[in-house]
Amino acid sequence: MTSDNGFGYERVETVERLREFHEVVGTVFVGGGPALDAWVDAFRSRLAVDDFRVATDRGRIVGTYRSFAQRVTTVGAGSVPTRGVTAVTVLPTHRRRGILTRLMADGLDDALADGAAAVTLIAAEYGIYGRFGFGPATDAAGFRIDVERAGLGPVGDVDLRFVTGADYLTASTAVHAGVVIPGKVSRPPTEGERRAGLLLADVPDTTHRVVLYRDDLPVGVVAYRVDELWEDNMPGSTLRVVELLGVDADAERTLWRFVGSVDWVTKVVTGPRPVDDVVGELAANPRAVVQRERSDHLWLRPLDVPAMFTARTFAAPGRLVLDVDDPGWGRGQGPAHGRFVIATEGGAGTCARTDEPADLALPVTSLPRLWTSDDTVTRRVAAGDVAEQTPGAAARADLLLFSPRRPWAVDGF
Ligand SMILES: CC(C)(COP(=O)(O)OP(=O)(O)OC[C@H]1O[C@@H](n2cnc3c(N)ncnc32)[C@H](O)[C@@H]1OP(=O)(O)O)[C@@H](O)C(=O)NCCC(=O)NCCS
Repeated sequence: MTSDNGFGYERVETVERLREFHEVVGTVFVGGGPALDAWVDAFRSRLAVDDFRVATDRGRIVGTYRSFAQRVTTVGAGSVPTRGVTAVTVLPTHRRRGILTRLMADGLDDALADGAAAVTLIAAEYGIYGRFGFGPATDAAGFRIDVERAGLGPVGDVDLRFVTGADYLTASTAVHAGVVIPGKVSRPPTEGERRAGLLLADVPDTTHRVVLYRDDLPVGVVAYRVDELWEDNMPGSTLRVVELLGVDADAERTLWRFVGSVDWVTKVVTGPRPVDDVVGELAANPRAVVQRERSDHLWLRPLDVPAMFTARTFAAPGRLVLDVDDPGWGRGQGPAHGRFVIATEGGAGTCARTDEPADLALPVTSLPRLWTSDDTVTRRVAAGDVAEQTPGAAARADLLLFSPRRPWAVDGF
């Protein structure tokens, strides 16, 4: 155990401490999560695998931080090893005294030593993580569908089946593994169970679970809940999509048509989806499919720039030199600091440190969007995130970095 600001910092090693960990998380993240016993049961086996670390005051936990091994899918369907960070909390009695700063610095040091290419998280508030070198890597948006106006069309002759929670989990695990999209995080521990409705304790399980099969193989899954409503003897229920995933566009189209054709449902709402989701294009009246709450979703802290860029593909041959400013996390210059040359040919590329003059200069926090091709470089230059060092470099970079799909993390964590 070490000490800083009078607080202790240690790893969670016992189930009793794990219970206290979740109590603190529950105090900070008010509501929404599974009940204590269900959570402890689900995470007991993760004690030896994940990294649960805490800050303590007089022996009691006052700050929490968990990280776990993860992979993030690159443009071109490769992947890099990352660490996902979650359950970042500091009790309201102990805020703004440097606890997060210490937990994060220790976590980043360890991720770097472990060889992670990057560290990822989903930021509760925009202003928290930039100071540690995290930047948005993907956006996401929810959708609200006015079912009667949208006209998503008939489902057609397909093999859709309601299944048990256990069968849904098996199918969704397979389908998730088959989904290829840049920015996808490997399924976080217990996320499959949560979406299958298997990680809810004291509340009745109201999850509907449907699997789409092709030749008896699962190719799509949708889990949803319905808020039933009747007014003047007319149905007006809302269908809440917990998960909707297909291994290909055909499967996803079928699932959208299905959720858009459930009797008594007049409104469909979703959580974070890819911003270029095709659902709007499927509707006879696209205005009835509204994108809402669009914002940053997955954040990423680059650690190993050569590994990140070597693992993705490129749309054109060429060379691009990036000059990255990485001030680190309070313990010296960051590992992404310096100049890197990306050399591409035949779709593949290499990335290495260089002394060549830079084409583009950018802070480490702007690198994630470039890496996932979430936005054009031209637009990032216009926004002032990226500076062109050689004329025409942004347009050249856009040809190299083009990706046909916007990235999406698929899961939250
Ligand atoms: C976010 C949280 C973990 C910060 O913990 P903390 O121990 O108070 O943070 P620190 O004292 O180490 O603060 C470090 C810096 O971040 C800033 N900061 C902290 N929380 C911030 C926030 N929500 N928005 C903007 N800046 C924030 C601090 O002002 C401080 O800035 P400074 O270095 O310029 O003084 C804590 O406020 C919390 O638990 N919030 C509610 C839960 C939450 O949002 N968790 C994050 C989930 S992704």
